[in-house]
Amino acid sequence: MRQMMVAGNWKMHGSVAFTRDMIQTLTASVTVNEAVTLLVCPPMLYLTQAIQAASNTSLSVGAQNCAQIQTTGAYTGEVSATMLADVGCQYVIIGHSERRALYGETDAVVAEKTKVALAAGVKPIVCVGETLAEREAGQAETIIATQLDAVSKVIGAAGWANAIIAYEPVWAIGTGKTATPEQAQEIHAFIRHQLAKLDAHMAEAITILYGGSVKPDNAVTIFSQPDVDGGLIGGASLNSDDFAKIYAAAVAH
Ligand code: 13P
Repeated sequence: MRQMMVAGNWKMHGSVAFTRDMIQTLTASVTVNEAVTLLVCPPMLYLTQAIQAASNTSLSVGAQNCAQIQTTGAYTGEVSATMLADVGCQYVIIGHSERRALYGETDAVVAEKTKVALAAGVKPIVCVGETLAEREAGQAETIIATQLDAVSKVIGAAGWANAIIAYEPVWAIGTGKTATPEQAQEIHAFIRHQLAKLDAHMAEAITILYGGSVKPDNAVTIFSQPDVDGGLIGGASLNSDDFAKIYAAAVAH
């Protein structure tokens, strides 16, 4: 059985009060099933607060990004994976399409960040996905293979064994347009197939999340696909009721 996960990517949303209330509500209202990790990824500034509020609970906390350099140095404004580990952060989202599109993160940068996260002992959630133009041009699989290959070259099968992948079609993010369960399954199976070329056992065991307009009413059918191991949730993770319902859908699947 693969470990499942429901992860909330708050993006640049929240406040001290929001973080306090959300963690309190989630830890009080959600019974965490050990087969499904429950994770929230607040903005960097609220990480320590979230980690402290979630300590001694089954809620995990992750970051949304880390520096390309592992430890310390003259890199104004950056936060290293070592620092994330230092404050007790267990996961980090790497290469989200917003970072690729808005902050120029190339496949090579994503690979390097994945490597430093692994070295620091912070589990990377590596995001891949195609744009609408790429899908319409029939290039979805080629794009995803390229994104995966860049990371594989740097971390190898052993690195993937300690990582998570999130398939997030760019056209489904924040648009209310979700991939159909069949479209998600097709790409998830493709990702597993690509990784199996490195190591079949690792490919079978790796957790692959779907992200892009997952809501309480579509979570069940998406999570019921054989190669979908949970979700990376944006907008709906900012509402504790919706997020709890999506978590329940993953547990029920
Ligand atoms: P939405 O759930 O808001 O579409 O965002 C998905 C996402 O980008 C999660 O990382």
